[in-house]
Formats: sequence, structure tokens, C-alpha cells
Amino acid sequence: MLRRTEPTPNKPLPPIKPQAGARHSGASSPVPPSAAPNAVAGGKPGAALQQQHQQQDAGLPTEKLPLPMLASFGVVSAVLLLLGFALATAERRAAAAALVQAASDRWFALLWTVLAPAVHGRTSGFKAELGLAGLAGNVLEIGPGLGANAPLLDPAAITHLTLVEPNRFMTARLNATLVARGFKPSQLTFVTKPLQDAAADAAQGSFDAVFGTLVLCSVPPSQLFVALETIYGWLRPGAPFVFLEHIASPHGSVARTVQEVVAPVFHTCGGGCNTRQDTETAIKALPWAVDIVGRQEGIQTVIWGRATKPSGLLAPGSLYKFIRRMF
Ligand SMILES: C[S@@+](CC[C@H](N)C(=O)[O-])C[C@H]1O[C@@H](n2cnc3c(N)ncnc32)[C@H](O)[C@@H]1O
Repeated sequence: MLRRTEPTPNKPLPPIKPQAGARHSGASSPVPPSAAPNAVAGGKPGAALQQQHQQQDAGLPTEKLPLPMLASFGVVSAVLLLLGFALATAERRAAAAALVQAASDRWFALLWTVLAPAVHGRTSGFKAELGLAGLAGNVLEIGPGLGANAPLLDPAAITHLTLVEPNRFMTARLNATLVARGFKPSQLTFVTKPLQDAAADAAQGSFDAVFGTLVLCSVPPSQLFVALETIYGWLRPGAPFVFLEHIASPHGSVARTVQEVVAPVFHTCGGGCNTRQDTETAIKALPWAVDIVGRQEGIQTVIWGRATKPSGLLAPGSLYKFIRRMF
């Protein structure tokens, strides 16, 4: 039996040594529990030691903790920790977003290598109606991709061609295609940015034409208007924006239902393509003269046309549209 020892406050008891031969597992102990001096009847020798140490600890003198100091130390550390965590998270989030964007761009450059010939084949008739071959002077193409439109352009008539293509995995092939078409490197300027961020990268009011095919669907909806304003700003008065785009079908139509269903897949795997982008309405909201040259209805309706910047602020309709946009 264990003899209870009362601890004195200022004199801790000496540590208790286990008896030779005693083990921590009672089941295989060569010494019967009743024979071990530290054993509790029916219990384990280890438990007896623990119980005795607890009794010793209870007798130790305790210091009073300076609570206000401890609390303020805790609050300051928590604030610093939270601040550090928030900053590290923002950095990590930005790094992760850049990685995802790079992977998505690389994937889409590969995918478009496979898809572009077929898409171009199906739309080349519409492009011919747009008269890309007649574009001359200082010209800018938005989202040229791998250069599907290069064979339609006249390098002798275009004095300078600016290409606004954010996907850097496409620019080497785009450059090679344009040079093979007959453009000199000195005729070309590449801007590797989304067009809605590139307003300052090309001179305002200086372009004789801006054109793009199947690009505006990939501009985030919240930035579509800014993107179109950017194009508007680049054009000299009287110059056209020439476009071919797939657009959202009316709500409730079968085509729109399909567009809604496939939208997440197209957005994730198709370089940010939005099958429900209301590009036609957005184009018509700007104060230029819009001429829809053609329209092909289908599961993915396509429109092609021109939007010409007015020569003066008082050109028909432009002032009205401009004021309407402001309010
Ligand atoms: C479907 S591809 C069309 C490429 C080419 N215009 C054609 O018809 O083959 C869309 C192109 O637009 C580019 N793009 C996507 N978002 C853009 C943006 N915000 N500004 C400019 N180009 C963009 C993509 O990198 C891609 O090259």
C-alpha cells in the first residue's frame, strides 16, 4: 500500500525512484503489485508515480502572473501575426493567380493551334465581306492570336501594324506568320497586354483602322465597355473599328440555353471565352456609327461589321449617344 506523504510548501519532496525490476506494464510485471513499494493496490506502478508527482506539484509555490502585461503582449502578437498572414496571403494569392494565368495561356495557345484553321475556314467568307485586304495606313489588330488574319492583310498598304495580344505564348508564331506574309519587323509593334489595359500603349486618335476577330468574347464583362472605349480612343475621327464576334442569343431561346450550359467549360478551357457576352449591345452603346454587315444565327450567333468614329462631335447620332452614356 502507498503511504500518503503530505508536502510542505517550501520544501519539495525528492523524486521517487522506481524499484529495480518494476515495469510500466502491470500485465507482465515480474513483481506483484502488492510487493512494489510505489504500487497502488490493483493499479499500475507508473500511475502511482504520476499520482505522487501530482501531489508534489500541488505543494510548489506559484508566482502571480502580471495579467495586463500578458494580455497586451497577446494582443500585440495576435495583431502582428494577423498582419503578417494577410500580407503573405496577398502575395501568395498574386503568385498563384499568375501561375494559373500562365498555364491557361499556354494551354489556349496549344488549343488554338489546332482549332484556328477550322474556325478561320468557317469565317473566311465573312471576313472577306469586311474588306480586311483594303485596310491601309496605321492599323491596329486586337487579339491577333497566331496570325490567322495575316494572309488577308496587305503589307504594302499598311504602313505600320500594332498587335495587342496578351498571350505571350502566341507572339513568336504570330511574328513568324506576319514576316512570312511580307511585313518587315520595323513595320510591327507588339503590345503584350489585354486591350482594356493598353490605352496608353498606342497613341490616341492616331489609327486609320482597328480590327479584331473573335476577341471581345474573352474580355471580362465588367471591362468590355472600357475595352471598347479604348478602341474608340485609338481611332482617328472618321476611322472604322472592323469586327467579327460571336454574341449572346436572346434570353429564353434554345441557343441561349446551350450557351448558358457550356459557358463554364468554354470559360475555363477556352482562354476566358464567354459564350453569353452581349457584345452587340456593348458596341452599339458607344457614340460611333455601327453598321452590322452580316449576321449568322445559330447555337453561336456571329455578327460582323464596322463601327466608324464620327468625324466631329456633332455627327448624326453621336452627340445623343454620348450624352445618353454619361447619364
Ligand atoms: C479566339 S482567339 C482569336 C484569335 C484570332 N483573332 C483569330 O481570329 O484567329 C482570341 C484571341 O484574343 C486574345 N485575347 C483574349 N483576351 C484579350 C484581351 N482582353 N485583349 C486583347 N486580346 C485578347 C487571346 O489571347 C487570343 O489570341
